[in-house]
Amino acid sequence: MKHTKVKDLLNSTKILQEVTAKGWVRTFRNNQFIALNDGSTIHNIQCVVDFENTPEAILKRITTGAAICVSGDLVESQGAGQKYEIQVKKLEILGDSDPEKFPMQPKKHSLEFLRENAHLRIRTNAFGAIMRVRSALSFAVHQYFQQKGFVYVNTPIITGSDAEGAGEMFQVSALPFDNTPRTEEGKVNYKEDFFGKQTNLTVSGQLEAETYAMALGQVYTFGPTFRAENSNTSRHLAEFWMIEPEVAFNDLADNMDLAEDFIKYVVRYAVDNCADDLKFLESRLADEEKQKPQAERSEMTLLEKLNFVLDNNFKRVSYTEAIDILKDSTPNKKKKFQYLIEEWGADLQSEHERFLVEKHFKSPVILFDYPAKIKAFYMRLNDNTEPGKETVRAMDILFPGIGEIVGGSQREERLDVLIEKMKTLGIDEEELWWYLDTRRFGSAVHSGFGLGFERLVLFVTGMTNIRDVIPFPRTPQNAEF
Ligand code: 4AD
Ligand code: MG
Repeated sequence: MKHTKVKDLLNSTKILQEVTAKGWVRTFRNNQFIALNDGSTIHNIQCVVDFENTPEAILKRITTGAAICVSGDLVESQGAGQKYEIQVKKLEILGDSDPEKFPMQPKKHSLEFLRENAHLRIRTNAFGAIMRVRSALSFAVHQYFQQKGFVYVNTPIITGSDAEGAGEMFQVSALPFDNTPRTEEGKVNYKEDFFGKQTNLTVSGQLEAETYAMALGQVYTFGPTFRAENSNTSRHLAEFWMIEPEVAFNDLADNMDLAEDFIKYVVRYAVDNCADDLKFLESRLADEEKQKPQAERSEMTLLEKLNFVLDNNFKRVSYTEAIDILKDSTPNKKKKFQYLIEEWGADLQSEHERFLVEKHFKSPVILFDYPAKIKAFYMRLNDNTEPGKETVRAMDILFPGIGEIVGGSQREERLDVLIEKMKTLGIDEEELWWYLDTRRFGSAVHSGFGLGFERLVLFVTGMTNIRDVIPFPRTPQNAEF
């Protein structure tokens, strides 16, 4: 039977006869009022059952979680809280839900409990809202780049290269674990493996995207990436989605402009298109904040935070300036940082990034020109830097409550400098022959960045744990579902 989405019923401009709705029962009050949700909106539609003329056996089966189909008239509601309700004439139970066993009871559940029930948590208001916002944000990502004429590139998921050179990769192999073929030296013989070489799940599509940018001009990827880093934090996933634009002829300043404009566009899209869900998430966050001691509470509501990002320029600060600020900061002097900043060259930990963003600048920050030593091999070496104090044209965007949301750089376009760098780091030239070809044939200045999609969703939804903004999180010791 044809049915109308709850969202469309609630947005109707007039009363309607004979409508049908299908969804899941959230609550059933007084043997009369069903709150029905179908996922199309955060709002439920109230369905009023004529209980005197409905068999007791059916009434008993209208339980939280049950799938039902109701038909009747859409009328103006007498009760407070909703404009319309359905005066039920016909009700069918599509799928029962045992109220003794259904885990999503109509009460407050802890986020931990909901994570263990990730297959059912989308039946709650919060997770319905988060996943609708996530979907809207991914649409906005494509819309932004497509409108600007970027070409969407699907880079491989299985690859032989370690784009970040950090070695945090999941191996892909079809070799048996026992009785693994070995070379004469006793090493695993990957020649006998599926691809005839060692392969892994991609940590980033950047290197392949660069080859496309050097032909198509402006490209972007949006796909899953994998990191076997054993960091059990609220900001890290082993499988996450990354958006990686790459643009020929862009320098670092252009790259910063693009990243800032892009982030503002997608946040604006969510604010404009997800008002109901964001309103709900704002009140959820406000409740969570109330549990915290006064001093730790955020000064801004969720929408104020989003609007703050939209209305203000991101602060652009060099690594060197940032180090000076951190060295002189109270937590550094009082030894409150776990990692004290003693000298130029130190890698920034999330405690330092959060200090800069949340305490010092109180604004999103773009840090640039990092020491070459702490960044990946492909970044453009700055001209005129002191020996021992070489910097690269890197940029990281830091967000309040999140820390690093974007990492990117201008790329080293000079073949000789790139090869020299790879030699120092022990990166195999043979392995990356195809990457080096982009510098051999028509090399040019180019830049790009990677935005961690879940970190963006965290920011927009006001959630605090990255496991709550991806449908089925993969983290150390956890790959359920
Ligand atoms: O800074 P990263 O490692 O940069 C790159 O991978 C570059 N190849 C990007 C580029 O220039 N095209 O990662 C980029 C972003 C980070 O800023 C962060 O937002 C996110 O990816 N990210 C993670 N998100 C969730 N879980 C993890 N384990 C993440 N690691 C990085
Ligand atoms: Mg990074």
